Amino acid sequence: MRNFLIMLVFSLGVTTQLQAGSDATPLSLVPKPNHLEQLPGEFHLSEKVQIVCSDENLKQEADYLQAALSEAAGFNVAVADVAPATGAIILKLDEGIAGEEAYSIRSSEDKYEISGKSSAGVFYGIQTFLQLIPVSAKGNIALPLVKIDDEPRFEWRGMHLDVCRHFYSVDVVKKLINQMSRYKLNTFHWHLTEDQGWRIEIKKYPKLTEIGAWRDETVVGHMADYPHRFDGEKHGGFYTQEQVKDVVAYAAARHVTIVPEIEMPGHAQAALAAYPWLGCFDDTLKVWPLWGVSENVYCAGKESTFEFLQDVLDEVIPLFPGTYFHVGGDECPKENWEKCPLCQKRMKEEGCKDEHELQSWFIQRMEHYLATKGKKLIGWDEILEGGLAENAAVMSWRGEKGGIEAAELGHKVVMTPGNWCYFDHYQSIDSNEPTAIGGLTDLAEVYSYDPVPAHLPKDKQKLIMGAQANLWTEYIPTSEQLEYMIYPRLCALSEVQWTEPANKDFADFELRMDENYLRLARNDIHFRVPPPEGLSPVQIYEGKEATITLSCAAATAEIRYTTDGSEPTEFSALYAGPFKLKLDGDLTLKATSFLGDGTKSYTVKSVLKTANLKPVKLKNPEKGLNYKFYDAAFRSFRDVGGEAIKTGTVDWLVIPAEIMGKLKGWAFDGYISVPTDGSYYFQLNSSCGSGLYIGDELVIDNDGLNYDCTTSGRVELKAGYYPVKVKYFNTVYGQSIKLSYKRPGSDKLEVFPGEKYFRE
Ligand code: ACM
Ligand code: ZN
Repeated sequence: MRNFLIMLVFSLGVTTQLQAGSDATPLSLVPKPNHLEQLPGEFHLSEKVQIVCSDENLKQEADYLQAALSEAAGFNVAVADVAPATGAIILKLDEGIAGEEAYSIRSSEDKYEISGKSSAGVFYGIQTFLQLIPVSAKGNIALPLVKIDDEPRFEWRGMHLDVCRHFYSVDVVKKLINQMSRYKLNTFHWHLTEDQGWRIEIKKYPKLTEIGAWRDETVVGHMADYPHRFDGEKHGGFYTQEQVKDVVAYAAARHVTIVPEIEMPGHAQAALAAYPWLGCFDDTLKVWPLWGVSENVYCAGKESTFEFLQDVLDEVIPLFPGTYFHVGGDECPKENWEKCPLCQKRMKEEGCKDEHELQSWFIQRMEHYLATKGKKLIGWDEILEGGLAENAAVMSWRGEKGGIEAAELGHKVVMTPGNWCYFDHYQSIDSNEPTAIGGLTDLAEVYSYDPVPAHLPKDKQKLIMGAQANLWTEYIPTSEQLEYMIYPRLCALSEVQWTEPANKDFADFELRMDENYLRLARNDIHFRVPPPEGLSPVQIYEGKEATITLSCAAATAEIRYTTDGSEPTEFSALYAGPFKLKLDGDLTLKATSFLGDGTKSYTVKSVLKTANLKPVKLKNPEKGLNYKFYDAAFRSFRDVGGEAIKTGTVDWLVIPAEIMGKLKGWAFDGYISVPTDGSYYFQLNSSCGSGLYIGDELVIDNDGLNYDCTTSGRVELKAGYYPVKVKYFNTVYGQSIKLSYKRPGSDKLEVFPGEKYFRE
């Protein structure tokens, strides 16, 4: 659906580098290799081919390739010690290759040779080779010839999974690890303990899983939905140590290291529910049924806390052969420590001037313990507060600031900043997206991330070990939804982690993703199929005709649409370019993307209307808007009203600082001045729901209960003043409202300028 220049570059008439083009799509390799040449000729992959591997150290890789070929190509090939004259896929170790995880591929019509310095390198070469096989191929398959010398940009190519907010079975975890390895990720961060559930068997403390692994019920809907309601259903589960060993071995066979996370000192309510003496006040607690951050944390004053944690570590450490051990360290409320005599005594004894330093002392103590077991500590960036433990590595999640600070102090860093790396954020503003915690991190945003801050001094840049995406599962109750949140964002992430910035290009990535979408589908992954783009839920036209322009991020997808309210099918009208629709009253346009194998996106819906919106004349316009403030617990912007407890004016659409509040409502009214005639795209973002009226027309219906409601609307306007009303309600701690727009003909989203709001 996108146009690209056809670029065929011939180098000395021998090497053809195929670039994006209508008849020359790039090889669908993700992450993109760093040095790749496509050569003329073909290698024929058939059941006559043999995998040749004489090195015992590569037996696992040979077996893996054999199984993968049987899945991808539909036939079994033999593994041999000696190469046949033709039709060999040779796996070998090569000391001459520089990087630990580097590999090279050399190919001719007779053989494909995959070499690595290590078995990991050979494994990555195999992944590249497998991606050369078209998804639809069966039988005798012609593979392109390539010359590849490739190695990862970063050593830490991570993906995190929270199995505590919702529990996921061993099979789901293995499926993720398998998929990670196909995209050359090498680190799985397994978040095993939380307020809402303890998920790993500890033989010395059986109640951790007898009690701590189960919660009686779970909050329904978004946390912003007050009053909280609960589902009344028991939820939980845990992994036995035998299961953990099995998962670790499964990951190791795919060159994935598992970093376990045992959270401390916060996010510990499930452990305290099992053993109340772990807390400051021995309170009887439940495994927490709410989301958020519990204030019930481990007591830092009692020696028994440390005996417990060391015992736990003693059982967990031997299960995980990797170097790093994650101790959490994030979001530890200090209220209990402030009140606890033992915590206060500890602070005095250890010379801590505040509770942050007590937390720092806590983490340092654990770091020393881990060091005696040969492990390095890694923690969330809060471990910087109050002083960073001597050899600790930092995982920077509250932006990049913590990572930069840690690197400047000479510590190793993994970058996981929320804006780019939190896969619990929304993937678009379409109302079809499943309820998420908030935030928007779309595919392009993930792809754009560079984990090395440019202003970090060169000698510190090498302390950035890599990047990782985090997936918190408060709002993800099923494995289908889990996969929807992970894919295709993981594919974009893989290129952030593997590919040098000079070799990255989002448009080219999107083209390479086309085949990968089919690959994901074949692997039974419930990924997010790129939906049609270009429609807003409400589109208002001046006249009786609408011109519709659609696009889809999947280049070869077909967009099918209907105008009678029915769900588009593979037989509905095919979008072949911009088209016109006659409007006699409201018309419902629905559009769906279909991939080559019939896999389809959700259906995007737009109500097209004609309205007689006319600019108005103002006698004495003054800058700003009027507002009314209501003191009630609204659940929809439509209900905002009644008796205002405060009225006033604001300079633009903004919540006046002095009247902020949870469970409140606001109504704004005035005029916007529209600079030129044309079709305007507006976007309203708020916590929680809001609505934008222009004249009497509801242009944006942004109702919802979360931290980050965003919806758009389109409207044709003439230059001049238009009456506007915005209604908004809030049930959460932070309050915000923002109106953005795109000028006619522009794709740039800008904040609607403050100087264009008026009142009279
Ligand atoms: C985090 O997201 N609390 C690390
Ligand atoms: Zn205490």
